[in-house]
Amino acid sequence: MFPLAARAVTVRLGGHAALDGVDLILDGRQKVVVLGANGAGKSVLLRTLHGLIAPTSGTIEWAASTTRPADQAMVFQRPVLLRRSAIANIEYALAVNGIGGAARQARARDAIERVGLATVAARQARVLSGGEQQRLALARAWSLRPRLMFLDEPTASLDPFAAAAVERVIGEIHAAGTAIVLSTHVLGFARRIADEIVFIHEGRVVERTPADRFFTRPQTGEAARFLKGELPWNGISPSLA
Ligand SMILES: Nc1ncnc2c1ncn2[C@@H]1O[C@H](COP(=O)(O)OP(=O)(O)OP(=O)(O)O)[C@@H](O)[C@H]1O
Ligand SMILES: [Mg+2]
Repeated sequence: MFPLAARAVTVRLGGHAALDGVDLILDGRQKVVVLGANGAGKSVLLRTLHGLIAPTSGTIEWAASTTRPADQAMVFQRPVLLRRSAIANIEYALAVNGIGGAARQARARDAIERVGLATVAARQARVLSGGEQQRLALARAWSLRPRLMFLDEPTASLDPFAAAAVERVIGEIHAAGTAIVLSTHVLGFARRIADEIVFIHEGRVVERTPADRFFTRPQTGEAARFLKGELPWNGISPSLA
């Protein structure tokens, strides 16, 4: 799985380069936060690193292999849940991955408790709120004990209490030995959780820096403007937009 290497990766979608010449090598030790404005290419980058989008040019390799390893998982910005109860969504994922019997039930229960959803375990997954669905998707991915997890905007639709709980869970998952690569555009969250920042702007990695340095001494004008809330969208500053 590691090193996970993207070399000169360009992804064209709908006639436009969502990623443009990305070089990135991850060793899995640090909590990596992909930071950037709406539309910068964060989701496309995570999907590409997870092997869901094939680069238009360039290569992705996991430990020098072009086959994506089975023990990595991704939690999507808009999770896809099955038409069954919350807990059954987790049990199903475990069953598909060959985990049965008492172990399946214990793991599903543990995962749903960790994200604070024990009280809604029996409810239909699709009637859960957006934030609850996001936490359920996190629990489902975690129940599989992947070695690497991609989390796309894991706190985007969460209230402050749920966001704090998810932050704690992500810390626990990492402490238990799972490598974490997550995306966000929320500075406070990035600052609390990141060891390393990959800052992307218009499909290009413009900066990759230890988190403490990124927030105090960004190396590029784009990053400095983003940190000040001034990053222009299509050349129009937010104050004028
Ligand atoms: N399937 C697609 N077809 C065409 N264009 C796409 C497709 N997916 C993404 N894009 C474009 O690629 C760019 C990057 O999209 P992406 O979803 O990665 O942004 P993001 O950084 O995750 O933004 P957000 O913060 O809003 O989640 C955007 O301009 C988007 O419109
Ligand atoms: Mg996104």
